Parts: sequence; structure tokens; C-alpha cells
Amino acid sequence: MKLIHLTDTHFVPQPATLFGLDPRERFDAALKSITTEHSDANLLVITGDLAHWGEIPAYEELQKRIATNPIPTVLLIGNHDERMAFRSVFPEAMDDGNGFVQGSRVVDGHRLIFLDTKQQGTHAGAYCAARRAWLEKELSESHEPVLLFMHHPAFPVGISSMDMLSQQDAGALWQVLEPHAERIRHIFLGHIHRPIFGNWHGISFSLIPGLNHQVPLALHPHGDDIPGSHEPPAYAVVSVNEDSLVVHLNYFLDATRRFPLDGDEVKGREYALGFPAA
Ligand SMILES: [Fe+2]
Repeated sequence: MKLIHLTDTHFVPQPATLFGLDPRERFDAALKSITTEHSDANLLVITGDLAHWGEIPAYEELQKRIATNPIPTVLLIGNHDERMAFRSVFPEAMDDGNGFVQGSRVVDGHRLIFLDTKQQGTHAGAYCAARRAWLEKELSESHEPVLLFMHHPAFPVGISSMDMLSQQDAGALWQVLEPHAERIRHIFLGHIHRPIFGNWHGISFSLIPGLNHQVPLALHPHGDDIPGSHEPPAYAVVSVNEDSLVVHLNYFLDATRRFPLDGDEVKGREYALGFPAA
């Protein structure tokens, strides 16, 4: 299975830009790269913060681009999104029966579960009892290996202002996940706008850069001012194999030099180690 993970698109209506950047232009560049280089992907998943102000015209900008994309696409929401506005533009979006944008699908023998961690009225995340009940049912009624997707990380990453906005009821979420932890292969996250990798309770996760703006590595206390940066955007190319799960970041705007590592510069020098014999 091959997945493309993109996050935090932060669409704004025409002709606005955001922090000096144009999310529409960036999305077009990302989609061109994805459809050119990874048209064999099973699924494209966008893990929330689709629109910066949750406005209908911003969702419409996203919708018309998704409509031209041949790769099946799943949209999650984040703290910047507004469910009503989102649903008015994407009426076919996931619904868990309680109005939350949650769902699951089986791809290549894996159950992909998509969570809605938005809490109305705050940028912090939450996973309330109704959502936990839905997730508990999803997990207890399925048997496949699980890939989990959600916007907010449920653990601190060390960037103090963003950590104040992480999921507030992580312990309760973990209680639901714990009995099924052995078959949860990976968690895909957004929200922090940085490349961050590790594990939570032993389950590996990848948290990837945003499409538009980024959050610099500020591991010193900085109150509630959220630092921003123009570090490069990326999407992830994920291959899910029988005994491994590999996450690559593609910095799709990168235009720096490409060259052969065994070109003229190194001709005539002997490598200490050769390639293994075929
Ligand atoms: Fe975001």
C-alpha cells in the first residue's frame, strides 16, 4: 500500500495570502508533484486545518482542486476548520453518526481510521466520550492492522505554545487504544507544522510539515506566542509493507541542484566500500 499524507493546507479565499505565502499555489504545486510522481498511491489523506479561518470560499478553493485529483482523497478536520462550513462544501465528507468528521476504510488489508479531534471554541484538541465510544466500536468490531490518522498529537512535542494546544484528554484516548495497541501500526499527525517522528506508548508516529507556513524548532519556553517560519513545506510518501512502514518527506518546492554522487568529482577515487555484489 502506498499513501500520500499532506497536512495543514490552511486555505484562504482568493485573493488573500497567509503569512506572505499562497496556500492555493502551494497546493497546486503539491498536487502536481503527487500526481506526476505518485499516481500509483492508493489514497491521499489530508489531516486537517484545511482552511485557515474555516470559511466557505476557502473550502471551495480546496474542493475545486480535489475534484481534479485522480487519487482518492480523505479529508480530516483540525482546529482551524468549521464543521458546518466544511460540510456545506463537502457534503459527502465522513460522518460518524454524531456529526463528527470521522470514519474508516479498509485498504490493502489494513483498517485506516480517521479521527476528528476538533474541540469547538479552542485551538486545543479533544476526544470526547461520544467520539471515544465510536472509536471503541470501530476497534472492537474489526480485526485488521490499524493505521490511525488525526490532527492533534496526544503528547507534548517540546514546543511550549503548541503543547498548550495539543489534545487535552490524551489519557482517555489511550484507554480506548491500549487494548488494541498491538495491531496499531502507525499514527499520522498534523497541527504542529514541523517534521517530528517518534513513538507514543510504543506506537510509531509521523508528524509532518504544513503545506503553507511552519513552526520553527523553539524548544525554550516562549509563553503563548506561537513562532512561525517559512521553512519549506513537504508531503509524506508512505509505503506500508508486511514487516515495515516507511515514511519519506518530499520537499516538493525544492529546486536545489541534483547530481550523481558517483559523477566527475569522484572519478578516479576508490570508494572504501563498494556496492554489494549483485
Ligand atoms: Fe495548522
